[in-house]
Parts: sequence; C-alpha cells; structure tokens
Amino acid sequence: MCGIIGCSGRSDETLDVLLSGLEGLEYRGYDSAGVALSNGTLSVCKREGEIHRLQQAVDGDLGGPVGIGHTRWSTHGPPSDANAHPHTDCSGGVAVVHNGIVENYADLRAELTDRGHEFDSDTDTEVVPHLVEEELADGATFEEAFRAAVTRLEGSYALAAVAEDSAAILATRHDSPLVVGVGDDAAYLASDVPAFLDYTDRVVYLEDDEFARLETGSWTVTDADGGLIDKSVSRVEWDAEETAKSGYDHYMLKEIHEQPRALRKCLRGRVDERTGSVAVEALEGLNPGSVQFVACGTSYHAALFGAQTLREAGVPAQAFLASEYATSPAPVTDDTLVVGITQSGETADTLSALREAQHRGVETLAMTNVVGSTAARECDRTLTIRAGPEIGVAATKTFSSQVVACNLLSAAVAERGDAREVVEALRDLPGQVQKILDSSRAERVAEEYVDSEAYFFVGRGHHHPVALEGALKLKEISYEHAEGFPAGELKHGPLALVTAETPVFAVATGSGEKATKTVGNVKEVEARDAPVVAVTDGASDVGRYADVVLEIPETHARVAPVLANVQLQLVAYYIAKKLGRSIDKPRNLAKSVTVE
Ligand code: G6P
Repeated sequence: MCGIIGCSGRSDETLDVLLSGLEGLEYRGYDSAGVALSNGTLSVCKREGEIHRLQQAVDGDLGGPVGIGHTRWSTHGPPSDANAHPHTDCSGGVAVVHNGIVENYADLRAELTDRGHEFDSDTDTEVVPHLVEEELADGATFEEAFRAAVTRLEGSYALAAVAEDSAAILATRHDSPLVVGVGDDAAYLASDVPAFLDYTDRVVYLEDDEFARLETGSWTVTDADGGLIDKSVSRVEWDAEETAKSGYDHYMLKEIHEQPRALRKCLRGRVDERTGSVAVEALEGLNPGSVQFVACGTSYHAALFGAQTLREAGVPAQAFLASEYATSPAPVTDDTLVVGITQSGETADTLSALREAQHRGVETLAMTNVVGSTAARECDRTLTIRAGPEIGVAATKTFSSQVVACNLLSAAVAERGDAREVVEALRDLPGQVQKILDSSRAERVAEEYVDSEAYFFVGRGHHHPVALEGALKLKEISYEHAEGFPAGELKHGPLALVTAETPVFAVATGSGEKATKTVGNVKEVEARDAPVVAVTDGASDVGRYADVVLEIPETHARVAPVLANVQLQLVAYYIAKKLGRSIDKPRNLAKSVTVE
C-alpha cells in the first residue's frame, strides 16, 4: 500500500532522508515512487517502478530543507510516471502526497476542470493541490489553503503537502495513519515508523482530523480549528537493526528465524508457569459471554485458531473475515467481545469491522503488533503481540505470535480448560521453534516438488488454520496454485484435483481422533498417487503413508500449530526462492492494505 515520508531538516540531508525513507516503506508494496522538495522553488521527481529508478532520476538540482516522498500502490489509474505522487497544481507551486481514497474526487475534478484547471494524472489525489492552488489564489496562506482544501474531501486520507515559498510541511489524516518523528534538529513525517527509524525513535501519533506542521526541525499539532494540541512524544521499542536484513537473503527468512525471540517477547511477564495463570494487563477483568474475531489474510487464520481455542475453553466464539463482517455483521449481545486481529493495526477492512462493532456498543480488543496503530488507539483494549517489525509482505513471525496471543486470551477468559499445560508448552515453544529452524528438511522438500502443478494442504481442528496458512504463504510468494482444506473436506470436492503432480501437505500431530482421521484422508490421496508430505510429531502413523516427513517436536495440541506452520513457512520460502520470485515484495500484494 502507499507510503508517505516527509522531512524538515537540513538542506544537504533532506533528500537522502526521503530516499532512504522510501526504501523503508518498500515493504508495504508499491509500483511507483516520487519526491518533492521545496527550496523557495519546488522541484518534483517521480518514476514508475522500483525506487532505484527514482534514485537514478534524481538530479543535482533537487534539494531543499523540506520535502515529501511517496510510494504508490495503484488504485486510481495504472502505475505510470504521471500517476506517481507527489501531484502538483497547475502552476507547479504546490505538491501533495496522499494515502487513502478521495471518494468525491470525480465531482471535485469536474468542478475544478470547469474552472480551468488542467489535470496530468488519473488519480483521485490530484484534486488536492488544485484545491490548495485556488485558495492561495484567493489570498490564503499556505496553511489556510491546505486546511480549506481538506474540508472539501470525503473519504480516507493521510496527506502531506509542500509549497514553493514555504518552509513548512503540512499534513493531516482521516482514517489513514500518519506519525511525526521527533529528531534533535529535524522533524519527520511518515505513514509508518520504519520509514524514519534510522533517524529517530521518538514519535507523535496523529489522531484523525489533526493537523501537523513541520518546520525547520520543529513540529506542532493543531485541531481542525487551529487550536494547539499538547501531544505526548512516545518512544517506539523497535530499533533500526530490527528493520535491517542482517545478512539474510530476504526479510522473510530473517523473520522466520526471529520467531524464537519474538515468541519469548510475546510471553515475557505474562504467564505464571507455576499456576498456569495468565496475567496480561489488557485482559484484566475480561469476562465475555461470547467472542467474535474479525481479521484478514494471515490474521484471519490466527482468528480461526483463536475462535476454536475459545470454544474449547467454554466460550462461544466465531471468526469472521473482516471484509464480510463490515457489511454483514453477526448478531451481538451486551457481553460480546469483538477481537480484531491485525498485525499492522491499519487494515481498512478490519478497522471497518471493529468500528461496526463499536457502533453497536460492544467491547472491542485489538490484537496487534503495532503500538499506537489505529486499531490499538480505537479499541477499548489492546493486546500487543510484540513480534517486532515485520518487513516481508508475507506474514510469518506475526502469525506465530498471534497464535500465542490467542492462547493467552483463551487462558485468561477460559470457563474451563487446561491453561497450565498450555502455559508449560508455551514456555518450551521458542526452543522447539529453534530446533526446527536448525534441522528442517524443508529446503529438500522444496527441491523435490518445486515443479508441481499445484499444492494442497490439509489439517483438522487446530491444524485447519495451519493448512490454510501454509497454502496462503506458498501462493503469496511463489505465485503457484496452492489451496488449504480441512482434511475431511478433501473428499467432498477438492479430491478431483489431486493427481501425481499435486503434492499434498498433511498436518497431523498427536495420536487422537483428529490425527487418526487425517491419516485416513492421507490414504485417500495416496491412492490417487499424490506425493504426500507429512508434517507431524510422529505420534500417529501418518508418516508411514507419506513420501517425506517434516518433523516437529511433541507439544500441546494448542501449541503444535505454531511448530507445524514454521515448517510450511520454510517450504514456501524455498519453493519461491527456487522459482526466483520477489519474496519480500510479491507482485500485486501490499503489507498493509489501507483500502476496503
Ligand atoms: C495484507 C497482507 C497480508 C496480511 C493481511 C492482513 O493482505 O499482505 O499478509 O495477512 O493484509 O494484515 P494485518 O496487518 O491486518 O494483519
């Protein structure tokens, strides 16, 4: 999704900050990028394609103490130099970058065109600099003009603007994140903290409809009427090292390997192994009559796990795709808790579902990786998963941490259950993940099956979300056809697709009924000559019917999904690597999807 960076600092540094900031935003997914700097005059440079194309195009004339930059992920108009941000007015005196969607842009554009404005792009954004231009022509100051333009907009936006003759960056947000970075002699602006983390870890989160003004290293925040707001400066716990590749070929591989540490952080100070009790401030006093999870993508798979776990603990629970829930919400009662699982805390569909829940008056909980994200700020409670920054578009460590956080939630609100056993298993989990990372045969499995026609993943119960996630990971980064199913559903349709050219990954742990039945399903695919890769702890005899076994250590049934999933993350990674795919930035996908 689109990303914004801004810097008000020293003339000889601002351009570098913008370009490195854009690199820091690359992981969100983009198809073009651009910068605008003001130095008394305004200069703009933008290019379709990767940031290095922009870096090559930037020439020595471009400079100035204040500037804004943008990575664009197309919504209105295809990727092109013209559609890339920043966008300018007719005179080229005002430049604007924008995340989100201006819903009334067609009306505004028609109105502006009637008054003689000429447009260079297909974007919704371009109306903004022209609106500012009109106000300036009527004698408004830059800030007055910007504020007036914003009042005309409907939709969602994070906006930043610079102008010739102005040493300020003006910015505002509505339903799209924007954060100010506080440096010693520079001020920064970004849609996402990693963009300026190399320069500062001190941040000020903007709320909807607040305005920021960044000038010669200083910053102020005001409300819609111009009244000064006393904002607090927070420190983000992430450091720049966490957002570097640190010798790994890809962020995804680095993040897979970071899981032991991420899981330790997620658990630290939150569980009492002796009693099996869970002490999480965010969950204190929580006693929901029922729980509804809303989430998208990988987070939805964690939600499926969470709902199942809660049901086992005696609490009625369901998982919903947030995009569906937002328009077809399930009935709630006074004691319903709606949990939004969203690693970024900014996914528009999930925010919309959570807002729908709030509108209906029920309590909401954000389960997120990003302190200060919109979900965290808007929900009644926030359970942070503490996975550290995740740069690879394909979610890995955040899924594992979400599954652990769901276990914490479930133990905290359980009517009944075996919290003590789960807590004990969670204690051993980071070490067990490390063991898999040290010994996995996933790369050899990838070598063996890389040229297959399609890939299927099956699992029952807690492993159903793992099957879905295994398939999602593979399709996201390899662009190969992959589907996940509940193991028992295979015979009700998907089995028609199973051939000797379609490996089936079967996840089965323990020796109970679920594993036994999964073994039966594995025999069904084996009889169709499909290669079988079993992901198992060896407790059932699934391995006997498999061509290859990916082993995981034995653990509690509600912890095993994390271990099984690590093996499947590695399979997806190595298949994509062998196919030479863009692993960290898969085509068409974005890390944080801020449009519905
Ligand atoms: C995008 C990403 C997925 C992610 C989903 C939900 O589609 O590409 O990897 O799972 O958004 O993101 P969230 O931040 O809400 O967990």
